[in-house]
Amino acid sequence: MYVLGIETSCDETSAAVVESGRRVVSCQISSSLEFHKRYGGIIPEIASRKHLETIVYVVESAFSNSGVKPKQIKGISVTSGPGLVGSLLVGVCFAKALSLSWGVPLLGVNHLYSHIYSVFLAGKKVSFPFVALIVSGGHTSLFYVKDFDRIEPIGATADDACGEAFDKVAKILGLGYPGGPYIEKAACGGNPQEVKFSCGNTKNPLDFSFSGIKTAVLYRCRAMKSRSRKEIADIAASFQETVIESLVDKALLACRKKRVKHLVLGGGVVANGRLREKFNSSALQAGVKVYFPDKKLCMDNAAMVAGMGYQLFKKGYRSGLDLNAGLN
Ligand code: KG4
Ligand code: ZN
Repeated sequence: MYVLGIETSCDETSAAVVESGRRVVSCQISSSLEFHKRYGGIIPEIASRKHLETIVYVVESAFSNSGVKPKQIKGISVTSGPGLVGSLLVGVCFAKALSLSWGVPLLGVNHLYSHIYSVFLAGKKVSFPFVALIVSGGHTSLFYVKDFDRIEPIGATADDACGEAFDKVAKILGLGYPGGPYIEKAACGGNPQEVKFSCGNTKNPLDFSFSGIKTAVLYRCRAMKSRSRKEIADIAASFQETVIESLVDKALLACRKKRVKHLVLGGGVVANGRLREKFNSSALQAGVKVYFPDKKLCMDNAAMVAGMGYQLFKKGYRSGLDLNAGLN
């Protein structure tokens, strides 16, 4: 069974055709990132306009690359939230129009749950229940997953999202946008023990806090008259190490609390090589098996939306034409 997925929650316009929730037949992604770079962050108005400009082309190319005919599509799943409302609306309206004109069932899916699904597209089989940690530019969330339709939030960031903290710290250090890959690169030449940073405490031990460490980097940089390459590398490495330690500690704590031995990771920050190293070694010690998506599936894409849609269609879920952009 082929499902068409559509994703427009942030700056990526994406469409994908996925077979049986496993095989990515085609996945087209067009990013408007270039148009946001000069502002150092995503501008919602630009993002939604770019979705409008590219969505027809993106969906058409996903089809022409797949060799699948529209009449073979048995379901259309679309990200309906969370995300930028103006951006989400472009994908939701487009999906509704296709669903109506083709007479194919429609389903709105949660963007974060789709990120959880990315590992299943990498051909991995994870048995339920498991804990999932989604770390992106907009979210840092822990979930207890009993099934594809039984996902319980158990932790979230109290302030900045993890990727957002990488982006802001990169800006403070005078590196590029989006900050994650720049921090990772700069950190390679630095000593992660050079600066003592810490992540803030939270009332719920499974929640996260990253705004304090971002401010600590800011104050440290303000106090320096000039910054050598080595000093920037040390700050980047120390920041990255502290943030990753917090992610690892809380994810493994969630596994202990929920008595599960499987941990699924997803979201843009999971592309980070040091994060993968730390999770692999710490989880091994804790007797937990970690599952990472392919690096290209960490970022926003419609294949994960089609995959999650397939699983929910199979369970009988459908949305009406009153589907709206929102939290779920
Ligand atoms: O999941 P994603 O593509 O979009 C959202 O849904 O937000 O995540 C984008 C975020 C950005 O904040 C970016 O800085 C971060 O993922 N990121 C990274 C790396 N690559 C991307 N953070 C740390 N290390 C990386 N290598
Ligand atoms: Zn995302």
